[in-house]
Amino acid sequence: MTASGHARRWTASHTDVGPTADEVAFALRAGVVPDDRAFDWLLPERERERAWMFWTPVRVAVEVAGWLDRYEARSVLDLGSGVGKFAVIAALCSKASVLGVEQRASLIEVARDLVERFALSARVRFEQGAFGAVELPTVDAYYLFNPFGENLFSNGEQIDNTVELSFERYRRDCRAMTALLAASPRGTLLCTYNGFGGTLPPTFRLVRVGQGHPCPLRLWRKELDRASGPFLSEEALAELVLR
Ligand SMILES: C[S@@+](CC[C@H](N)C(=O)[O-])C[C@H]1O[C@@H](n2cnc3c(N)ncnc32)[C@H](O)[C@@H]1O
Repeated sequence: MTASGHARRWTASHTDVGPTADEVAFALRAGVVPDDRAFDWLLPERERERAWMFWTPVRVAVEVAGWLDRYEARSVLDLGSGVGKFAVIAALCSKASVLGVEQRASLIEVARDLVERFALSARVRFEQGAFGAVELPTVDAYYLFNPFGENLFSNGEQIDNTVELSFERYRRDCRAMTALLAASPRGTLLCTYNGFGGTLPPTFRLVRVGQGHPCPLRLWRKELDRASGPFLSEEALAELVLR
């Protein structure tokens, strides 16, 4: 079957038979964007059910992968990598190596299983730990899908209660991310999907905006070593640029 034939099959109404990892990889590499249900089919039921809320949509990850190659990012850090959905798709659709850092052991297990099924161990790996407790390498690009937002959700909306979730932690993590970005080298890329909650140093410039996604998708690049000016929220900065 051709790649578009595979895609048609997966976008047809959902059946209890999903595609294999090989089929998904084949379609993505051929430039066909499979339906999210096709990819999510490869996840355990519990993770499949919350995919719409917590895991990057396929179309978003594919667009980011294109940006990674365009801006020659060879190393990417997905901070708060969840089940590894973004990491796997980004690696399949770009030349980059992806490191995912995730606090929850149960999600790391799912992510490592995906890497094995997609045979991506040469370019994708996951480390378990919380931001601040794990030593992070210097990378060309950071990907953040609103990782700290769960701290602000109500109990029923959170993934589970195995980690600290609080407003205090939200503020701590957002501030630490802003500090990491402020200390990053010129040229560092930051891709945010639905923002990350913190402010951006004035050394970052908006270089790309995704279109047609459920949440704002933005690519920022650190273009100056130093700049005077306030640290602003992504929304405020994006508005300044787009006005
Ligand atoms: C919205 S999900 C995004 C998952 C993945 N990046 C994706 O796009 O498919 C956010 C993830 O970040 C993780 N996370 C949140 N705060 C974290 C922290 N401080 N350190 C490590 N992981 C964190 C959560 O456990 C959750 O799995």
